[in-house]
Amino acid sequence: APSTARITGVLPGYGRGWWAGRHILSVAQFTRAELHALFDVATEMKQMVSRAGHYELLRGKVLALLFLEPSTRTACSFQAAMLRLGGTCLTVADAGKRSSVAKGESVEDTVRTLESYADAAIVRSPVVGAAAAAAAAARKPVINAGDGIGEHPTQALLDVFTMREELGTVNGLTVTFVGDLRHGRTVHSLARLLSLYAVRLRYVSPASLRMPGEVLEAVAARGVEQSEHGSLDDVLRETDVLYVTRVQRERFDTVAEYDAVCNEFIITPKTLARAKETAIVMHPLPRLGEIHPDVDTDPRAVYFRQMEYGMYVRMALLAKVLGKA
Ligand code: CP
Repeated sequence: APSTARITGVLPGYGRGWWAGRHILSVAQFTRAELHALFDVATEMKQMVSRAGHYELLRGKVLALLFLEPSTRTACSFQAAMLRLGGTCLTVADAGKRSSVAKGESVEDTVRTLESYADAAIVRSPVVGAAAAAAAAARKPVINAGDGIGEHPTQALLDVFTMREELGTVNGLTVTFVGDLRHGRTVHSLARLLSLYAVRLRYVSPASLRMPGEVLEAVAARGVEQSEHGSLDDVLRETDVLYVTRVQRERFDTVAEYDAVCNEFIITPKTLARAKETAIVMHPLPRLGEIHPDVDTDPRAVYFRQMEYGMYVRMALLAKVLGKA
């Protein structure tokens, strides 16, 4: 795949502002100033949805959705975001099986096709670098909705927005990541994005599922304090944000390898009894057994609000990338 850096230039004709006409491929593209400009618009979107439900900002615009891996939240929140802004969506249903991708068409040619009909494309693929490859071939903005075990930049945007909404600030927080840190693209993007702030990062995982070295190096390069642990007890008392992730069954070679690690970290009401009263529990979802359903009623569980914030952030993102905010 082409490097992300080569294709983060701005496409012409999308108006003014840093976000307009830009492919969104990696959190490495963002600075704090750009994040906060996005979050200001996301806050306006949240207020607007609460007040009126919709606003015709993207009337006449069409968004193409190409999902070559399963999705509920990312696909539906992008779709809802577009509809609430007066635009429409073109969804390639069951794209891995029923589109021409199943005949062997490349992601580049698929995106060239979609942009003939739409104004921007959302791409999810099991292949690291697929969204970047699509963007390199595209004349219209491509947004990475998850590329294998690579990145999920829009999830990281909504995660940071969630911390700001729920805790008021990101600076000063101790964020503890728990679970499958090796395969979890959401934690790869979020750890990198949080390194724009004054935070402490803790990584709790089975030995075989540790955070990749390149993420640790990128975070260290920004001077952020981080440490790895085999037990949640090492860090639970200092944790402000407990970010739980699913062990990703689909990324393992054998069921036996998955079974050996899938139940190592399970968050229950007993776990939260030992956590700070002010802590919050986040999860990108979907969850399997790693957060017990009894945790859902704890006021510190914010993962269902987190997915709602995702729609406001994606509304802001679409408005900005299409040069309308
Ligand atoms: N968090 C997330 O990406 O969820 P989906 O896989 O349902 O889109």
